[in-house]
Amino acid sequence: MHRALSDISVAGDPLAVPHLLPPVAQHPATVADFSGLARAIAEDRGRWAPLVDYDTTTRWYARLATGPGYEVWLLSWLPGQGTGLHDHGQSSGVLTVLQGELTERALGASGETRRTLGADDQRVFAPGYVHGVVNDSLEPAVSLHIYFPGLTEMTPYTSCSAPSGRERESVHD
Ligand SMILES: [Fe+2]
Repeated sequence: MHRALSDISVAGDPLAVPHLLPPVAQHPATVADFSGLARAIAEDRGRWAPLVDYDTTTRWYARLATGPGYEVWLLSWLPGQGTGLHDHGQSSGVLTVLQGELTERALGASGETRRTLGADDQRVFAPGYVHGVVNDSLEPAVSLHIYFPGLTEMTPYTSCSAPSGRERESVHD
């Protein structure tokens, strides 16, 4: 004999009474949500592949989407293109490689770490995270960047110890 898990039951189709269903999150609100959003976009190749463009003079980027308090950017990297060390102001972020390979150099309390990021690899970072990213491979690369809140300021760094200035930049990476 089965024991009822609850003494409350809903007769009929619960979809017919939507006010009884739990609310559906319309926009990401946690780090896991943003990570999941990046994964979902990565899998939806038709959404981002047409926007990929390679510019021999600079990294090329396009804003793929915006939502309340966040922005999604698509970056295209030719071999050798990269950033210097920088932070992301007050923004947290999720970096996801969509295609190709990128090399990330990050500065932390224990010094510098370097890692190679391949397709589907993801890095999540908080405000204050300092890194530089470069396409060290011989093939073009594409990456997806979500910033929350949207990126408004980046400080470039020239050494492990100090920022090179409090300049505002408009680049995204
Ligand atoms: Fe960055």
